[in-house]
Amino acid sequence: MSLFDGLEQYVKESRPRFEEWLGRLVEIPTVSMDPARRNDMRRGAEVAVDCLAALGAQAAIVETRGHPLVVGGWMQDPAWPTVAVYNHLDVQPAMEPEWTREPFKFTVEGEHYYGRGTTDDKGPALTALLAARYAVGRGVRLNIQFVWELEEEIGSPHFAEGLAKTFDSTHSPQARQDAPLPVLRRPDSVVVSDTIWLAGGRPAAPYGLRGNVAVRLILETARREAHSGLTGGAARNPLAELAAVLAACVNAKTGRVTIPRFYKSVRPLGKTDRAQFLKSGFQVKAFAAAHQLTKLRARDRLEVMKRLWAEPTFEVHGFVGGYTGPGVKTSIPPRAEAKVSMRLVPDQDPAAIFRIFRAYVRKLNPDVHVEAHGMLRPYVADLGGPHAEAVRKALRFGFGKEPAFIREGGSIGAVVTMAERWQAPVMFLGLSLPEHGYHAPNERFDWGQASGGMKAFVGYFDEVSRITVKTEGSRRA
Ligand code: BES
Ligand code: MN
Ligand code: MN
Repeated sequence: MSLFDGLEQYVKESRPRFEEWLGRLVEIPTVSMDPARRNDMRRGAEVAVDCLAALGAQAAIVETRGHPLVVGGWMQDPAWPTVAVYNHLDVQPAMEPEWTREPFKFTVEGEHYYGRGTTDDKGPALTALLAARYAVGRGVRLNIQFVWELEEEIGSPHFAEGLAKTFDSTHSPQARQDAPLPVLRRPDSVVVSDTIWLAGGRPAAPYGLRGNVAVRLILETARREAHSGLTGGAARNPLAELAAVLAACVNAKTGRVTIPRFYKSVRPLGKTDRAQFLKSGFQVKAFAAAHQLTKLRARDRLEVMKRLWAEPTFEVHGFVGGYTGPGVKTSIPPRAEAKVSMRLVPDQDPAAIFRIFRAYVRKLNPDVHVEAHGMLRPYVADLGGPHAEAVRKALRFGFGKEPAFIREGGSIGAVVTMAERWQAPVMFLGLSLPEHGYHAPNERFDWGQASGGMKAFVGYFDEVSRITVKTEGSRRA
């Protein structure tokens, strides 16, 4: 009997189980950046372990100095290839006023699943897991290891530490005897399911991600608020000074970053990138509509794609301070804070960019305190090779459509860590759609993406189970 006989039936029958587990995970507010949610992070990890165990997989919580990691899967035969499947189970806060449903209540409306984390990234995680359960049950000759992170949304600060604790770095199939945790074998390849398509019906398989440096700028010029009639003219104004610093960092109209030497190591867009972008089917109108953008900095297709996927940015995310109540209160605030981040592209180095930024801010205004909040390196992979081909076949099998191989504007801190530590190809098999609303109010996932995704993942597992000797050889070379 072929691996695929009975897959349709399995996917159909999996729906109640998928919905039940997704509901359980979504209703735990695993907001990694909120210190008040520490307990929920732990509960989230425990439910994730239950979920793996319920399907007969091995599962364990790996402690780190931050939030834990959940690992598990089916280690069947050390002679077979091993794939690691990466997802994250932490989520962004859900405080947007536009939520019309409870963000941490799982709501099923027909084919749609609402709630924070449904699409980013709990739905895709469960999709891949249910597919693995099927493939293993049907005798696929592959070891499948899940790596579920709980700190992705805060820049993966303890991810490398967690991997070091549980993954054998030597690639020896023998487990260390003294290990308190399951020692997972170094995988031959990685598949990450945490990216979005170009549009519904337009699968995308990215081969690159931007990096990121997130920073807080803080300026304090008084101990408390002061009357501007009594002090104005002599007192310094931290909001205005911080605004001036930001204005010196970026041309707000064009987006051009004006920090000296910022673009120095930006790799120019290659011929292949350009060709891939042009044939991707990306549409400016659809992009703007999906994200409800009413105004753009550019309208030319290639220009927009370049700006999204291959150029760095400087963004202001928050500007805090002063009076925000009704009317105008004529006081001078004592303190101001700006939350900014810079998306980076190859070959920019986050640590180097942070240093030149801090030096520049010091020169502009030595009283501004500059604090780094996470540094992620950018990533680009080779387009060729058997794993990219496996992704192409898998998406065609799952959804009947060829994916566009494009780059991605977002960042996933764990990707560079896994690629470097394991010297293994990292592929992206994302299932989210732009209209699902990453980090947005009324975030959702849907059964169409989940059911097609299960088939795609079964197809992917089948394909990678047959990629063997070659990757071994090239990795050792
Ligand atoms: N799933 C996203 C990454 C992503 C974003 C992929 C857009 C494709 C398109 C991930 O969960 C995410 O949101 N990453 C953060 C990381 C940051 C908070 C350190 C990001 O990109 O802002
Ligand atoms: Mn994500
Ligand atoms: Mn996210």
